Amino acid sequence: MLSEIFNIQNRFLSSKSQSDKKKLGQFFTSLEVSEFMASLIGPEILTKLSIKILDAGAGMGILSAAASLECLEKGIKEIHVEAYELDTKAIEYLKMTYELLVIFFMSKGATFTFRIHNLDFVLNPPYQIGSEEKFDLSVINPPYFKYNTKDSPYCKATLSLYKGNPNIYASFMALCLKSLKSNGQLIVIVPRSFTNGLYFKNFRNYMLNNSSLEMIHIFAKRNKIFKSDDVLQENIICSFVKKEQSDSIVISSSNSIADAKKSNRNIYSKNLIIDPSNEQRFIRIPESKEQFDILELAEKLPTTFSKAGYFISTGPVVEFRTREFHTTELNSAVPVIRPHNFSDSKIIWNGNHKKDIAFQLKGQFESHLVESKTYIILKRITSKDETKRLVANIYLPNKHTSIGISNKLNYLGLKNEEFSIEEATGLSSFLNSTFMDKYFRSISGNTQVNSNEIRVLKFPERKTIKLLGEKILKLNSNSQQIIDKLVLDIINSN
Ligand SMILES: C[S@@+](CC[C@H](N)C(=O)[O-])C[C@H]1O[C@@H](n2cnc3c(N)ncnc32)[C@H](O)[C@@H]1O
Repeated sequence: MLSEIFNIQNRFLSSKSQSDKKKLGQFFTSLEVSEFMASLIGPEILTKLSIKILDAGAGMGILSAAASLECLEKGIKEIHVEAYELDTKAIEYLKMTYELLVIFFMSKGATFTFRIHNLDFVLNPPYQIGSEEKFDLSVINPPYFKYNTKDSPYCKATLSLYKGNPNIYASFMALCLKSLKSNGQLIVIVPRSFTNGLYFKNFRNYMLNNSSLEMIHIFAKRNKIFKSDDVLQENIICSFVKKEQSDSIVISSSNSIADAKKSNRNIYSKNLIIDPSNEQRFIRIPESKEQFDILELAEKLPTTFSKAGYFISTGPVVEFRTREFHTTELNSAVPVIRPHNFSDSKIIWNGNHKKDIAFQLKGQFESHLVESKTYIILKRITSKDETKRLVANIYLPNKHTSIGISNKLNYLGLKNEEFSIEEATGLSSFLNSTFMDKYFRSISGNTQVNSNEIRVLKFPERKTIKLLGEKILKLNSNSQQIIDKLVLDIINSN
C-alpha cells in the first residue's frame, strides 16, 4: 500500500525542477524512513479507538499515510487526517494518496477521512488562540530554510509561543506541538541544529517546557537519509509527547536508514541528555556507549570553560568586508591569522605563504584588530578531511601591538591577564585531546565550532590546566598519545 503512495511521490517529483523543489524545501521522505517514523507511535496513541492526525507540509502525504496504516494495524478503526500543503501542484497527488487510503480502510472495515488545506501552515495554523487543541498525533518532515527576521511574515506567527525565529522547521514543530491534545505525540525528522544552536535557545525552551522529549534517533553515517536529493544536513528523528518530561530519554542510532529498525537503543537519564546546568539547555546526543561514558565523565569536571575564567570570541576580521585593509606589504601593517597559518605545534605567519595577508593600520582599523598577546586559536570551521573537530594552537605575541584574527577562527584567552606558557600549553593540549573532541561531538553535530558551545563545556580548574601544561612542557612532546594519556588522568581523578 505504502509503495503505491511512494510511486505517486516519484511521479510528482519527476514533474518538478530541482530549483522548484528547493524553493519549497521539497525533500520527500523515503518509504523506509516513513515506516520507521510510524513505528515510533507510542501507547498513548495506539490504545485509542479513534484519532486525528496532523500532517503539516504534507507533500504527497507519505508520513500521515504510514502513520495511519500503522495505527490501523494496531487496531485503530477510525482515523481522520488534516494535511497542510502550500504547493497547489502537489494537491491533486496528495488527494490521490488519501483516496487510496479511504478505499483500503473500507476494505478492512475501518474509516479513513481527510481534509486538505492548500494553505501556508505557519500563517494559518489549525489552532487559534483560545481554541481547543485537537490532534492526537502529528508526524512531519517540515521544510527547512531560514528567513529574514526583520520583514518575514513568519516571524509574527510564533511570537506568542517563543521569541526569535531562525528557521521555518522550528515554526512547524512548535505549531504542531501547540495543536496537539494533552498526551498527543509529535514525531519529526529535522536537522540537528536546534539541539544546540544559540539562535534556537527560546525555541528549545518552548519545546522542552511544553513536552517530554521521549526519544532521538541519529544516523551514524551522514547524508544518507535523503538519497535522491542533495541534502547535506545532519538529520535526526525525534519523538515528543505533550506531557511532563519523563525521567529518561531513549537515544537510538543506526548506520543508515536500512538498519534503523535494528538500531542500537540506550536509555539515559534526562539530565544527561538535556543539559540542566544553564539556560541554553543543549540537547546532547551520545551516539554510542563510548560517547555516553565520555559525557558522563565530562559531567564530573568541576567547572565550565567560562566559569574557569577563560573567554572565547570569534576572530573579528571578516575578510570579505575588509578587503581595502588587506595588503602583502608589511610596512604599517600587522599579520592576520588565518586557518592556513596552523602548523603542527604553532601558528606560523611570516608573510611568505601565498595566502598570508596583513592588515593596514589606516582609517578605522582598530575595531578589526585585537591586542597582540598570547591566545589559543581554535578553528571555527574544520574541513571535511580533518579527523578532529577541535583543532587548537598557541599564538605567541610578536613585535606588533595588535593582530588580526580571521572570523574563520576563534581566539581564547584570559580577560585581564596574560597566559603563562604553561597554561597556554595546557589549554591548547586539553582542547586537542581525543577526549574533548568526542565530548564536543556529543553536543554538536556541526562541523562548525561556535563559541557559545565552548563556553558551557564542562572544564577543569585553571590550576589543573596549568599543571597539564607543565607536564607536557617537561616531556617536550606534543604527541597525541601523550596528551590523551595526561588528559585522561585529569578526567579520571575527578
Ligand atoms: C520536506 S517536504 C516533506 C513532504 C512530506 N511531508 C514528506 O515527508 O515527504 C516539505 C513540504 O512542505 C511544503 N511546504 C513548504 N512550505 C510550506 C508552508 N509554509 N506551509 C505548508 N506547506 C509547506 C513543501 O511544498 C513540501 O511539500
